[in-house]
Amino acid sequence: MREDNDVRQQPTPDVAPRPGNEPGAKVAPKVTISTVDPADEAALARWHAAFHTGLVAGLPDPPAWTLQEVLVLYRAPDSSMRREAFVAVDDSGEVVGAGELTFPLRENPRLAICEIGVPPEHRRRGVGSALYGHVVERGHAEGRTSLLTEVNVPDGTPQEEWPGVAFAQKAGFTLRNTELRRQLRLPVEPVHLRTLAGKAAQRASDYRLVSWSGPCPAEYAEQYAELKGRLSADAPLGDMDYEQEVWDVARLRETEDRAVAQGRTLHTTVAVAPDGTLAGHTQLAVPRHEPGRAYQWDTLVHAAHRGHRLGLALKVANTQALSQAHPEVARIDTWNAVQNGPMVAVNVELGYRIMDYCQEWQRDLQPL
Ligand SMILES: CC(C)(COP(=O)(O)OP(=O)(O)OC[C@H]1O[C@@H](n2cnc3c(N)ncnc32)[C@H](O)[C@@H]1OP(=O)(O)O)[C@@H](O)C(=O)NCCC(=O)NCCS
Repeated sequence: MREDNDVRQQPTPDVAPRPGNEPGAKVAPKVTISTVDPADEAALARWHAAFHTGLVAGLPDPPAWTLQEVLVLYRAPDSSMRREAFVAVDDSGEVVGAGELTFPLRENPRLAICEIGVPPEHRRRGVGSALYGHVVERGHAEGRTSLLTEVNVPDGTPQEEWPGVAFAQKAGFTLRNTELRRQLRLPVEPVHLRTLAGKAAQRASDYRLVSWSGPCPAEYAEQYAELKGRLSADAPLGDMDYEQEVWDVARLRETEDRAVAQGRTLHTTVAVAPDGTLAGHTQLAVPRHEPGRAYQWDTLVHAAHRGHRLGLALKVANTQALSQAHPEVARIDTWNAVQNGPMVAVNVELGYRIMDYCQEWQRDLQPL
């Protein structure tokens, strides 16, 4: 059974009245695809505007990477990913669609992760297909043999009616995993949080909860990096073909530095077992450039420490810490695989409500 969703009624994204974008209509797509130079801030801003508009059309209260954050993503060092932004420009010079390719550099060397966004007024004229042609070409050129993409579908929308689903199917992708985005409205009644903390403490009392803002204290850094890497192995990925990530302290520090450069404050709570080992953690990111929001990053309880209500204990403590440090934050977004029963149960207890489905689609790319 699904939870209530207070934001079901969304405009359909393909309604903009432009000659040629009614379903099935075709106007020859005279578009040029080119890669954006990340040093060219104005070009990156045009890319970002089209990309963002295309990706979020029709989604309820969609999350965003702001331009300020994207500028950092493209400029700060990242030893695990290389990104490429590309645009489709029509013969009048207008950016009519945009995409992004991410090439993992450590694990998953077969993979190219792609996203394509076409603003509603430019759809159904072949722009998305032209951008996808570029993805395939670049994937081949980089020797990648698998493409992974994401499609977000609002709750309550029949998925066969959603443009991204039809597009992914036509492009030969198959659905591999489904996550749900849920949102928690803040503040949560303090008494509700205290009740949940008490419930968790019945089984989690042997563990000590430690919270911090900003970088991980040096004493935990090695263990914490290891926990970060575990998420890609332990979180359910359905039929996705995705190798476990390997994290070390250098990767952890790089991620933390990038968050600072992006104006994102990280709030973390860990559970420390009686022998001093880290049994689990949870992390929230508060973006300076998107006031009022927070994003849930990883939550993980080490397999050896499950069954002690640590997931609940961690999330309650971190939510309390967040509300104390940032009373202005009004909502937190989180993503969980639909089959991730234990994590979903914790989120539902806290009061998270469904917003949309985030589907992972993947396809093989035959070597040329
Ligand atoms: C998906 C998206 C990129 C398509 O862009 P587009 O420029 O409209 O795509 P195209 O015109 O090249 O469509 C190619 C094919 O996809 C399918 N398709 C696209 N939109 C569709 C829709 N609304 N209904 C049914 N089929 C659709 C059709 O098979 C279409 O071929 P056809 O027009 O010959 O029937 C665009 O709707 C979008 O930005 N959506 C949000 C982001 C997203 O979901 N991206 C996809 C994952 S990368």
